[in-house]
Amino acid sequence: MKAIRYCEYGSPDVLKLEDVEKPMPKDNELLVRVRAASLNFIDAGLVRGPWVLRLLAGLRKPEFTGFGEDFAGVVEAVGKNVTEFKPGDEVFGGKRGSVAQYVCVRKDRVALKPANVTFEQAGAVKHAGLTALQGLRTGKIHAGQKVLINGASGGVGTFALQIAKAFDTEVTAVCSTRNVEMARTLGADHVIDYTKEDFTKREERYDLLFDNVSNHSMAERRRILNPDGICVLAGIGSAGPTQELLGRIVRGLGAGLWSRFTDHKFAQYTTRMDQADLKFLSDLMAQGKVKPFVEKTYPITETAEALRYFEQGHARGKIVITVE
Ligand SMILES: NC(=O)c1ccc[n+]([C@@H]2O[C@H](COP(=O)([O-])OP(=O)(O)OC[C@H]3O[C@@H](n4cnc5c(N)ncnc54)[C@H](OP(=O)(O)O)[C@@H]3O)[C@@H](O)[C@H]2O)c1
Repeated sequence: MKAIRYCEYGSPDVLKLEDVEKPMPKDNELLVRVRAASLNFIDAGLVRGPWVLRLLAGLRKPEFTGFGEDFAGVVEAVGKNVTEFKPGDEVFGGKRGSVAQYVCVRKDRVALKPANVTFEQAGAVKHAGLTALQGLRTGKIHAGQKVLINGASGGVGTFALQIAKAFDTEVTAVCSTRNVEMARTLGADHVIDYTKEDFTKREERYDLLFDNVSNHSMAERRRILNPDGICVLAGIGSAGPTQELLGRIVRGLGAGLWSRFTDHKFAQYTTRMDQADLKFLSDLMAQGKVKPFVEKTYPITETAEALRYFEQGHARGKIVITVE
């Protein structure tokens, strides 16, 4: 089968389409014919290989050479312990090395794809959708809250916006000028264009700040929180090289530590695979409450080009790779 591989760290040029052996499912695995996969911040980071990731991914060269993690596709075969899925089922989920014609994936890392979403949309869900859902839950989201999403137009942000609306909250989205209309279309009650206005200078107060960018100081963010408001430290902006990266990491980590001594909580979390959460997202999609927003699709032969675009840092929603 064909699969995208990278055997050295570097720019997107290191991604190559290669012939590799088709995997065989173990007893508790499904063999899935991949139809679509999508790009995430972590995929870009693993290819670039900054030293902090090399400690986990291989010091001199990547130990695991497959690319991507999210996917959607059709079950082709199942292991002997799999009763929950059968050949022909349409599924989505996560498995490293997903930008390939086939993946073998554990049965607890997938969910059924609702019929009303395309493979391209479903292939965009796993990482960004779980990050948005688990982050909002870390912020104890509930109906009636006022929620602000900083960085509402990218992969995680477009899910966070729609999921927050599904929880019946009043949502303010922060994005750049070109994405203002998109944020409204996705359901935002209010939109702030960060190129024209600094949301931390407003009089408005929020119960939950879902911060995808961490480009403001802790004091600035505390200013716009209600007395028992919470800031969820979801991310540090877009993938790709940026001079502001170190500052954002320090601001994020610093806020998490300092908030132990303040009345406002700044909560960090790490996205984890959780099949119940995947099913929850599947239900939201089936009900039409969440529609994964895909800006561009690229064929698998143009994966490097897709990553180059993603690394520019201004993707709208998700960037998807299609696999024929
Ligand atoms: N906590 C976790 O476990 C976890 C897991 C996954 C991802 N993440 C984090 O989530 C973050 C977002 O990932 P992603 O995949 O959604 O990235 P993405 O698709 O590249 O989106 C990033 C968005 O950030 C926006 N942005 C950039 N500068 C901004 C600014 N100054 N103010 C407001 N928005 C700004 C961009 O919008 P414009 O084009 O409008 O500028 C872009 O749409 C990443 O930092 C990643 O590390 C965290």
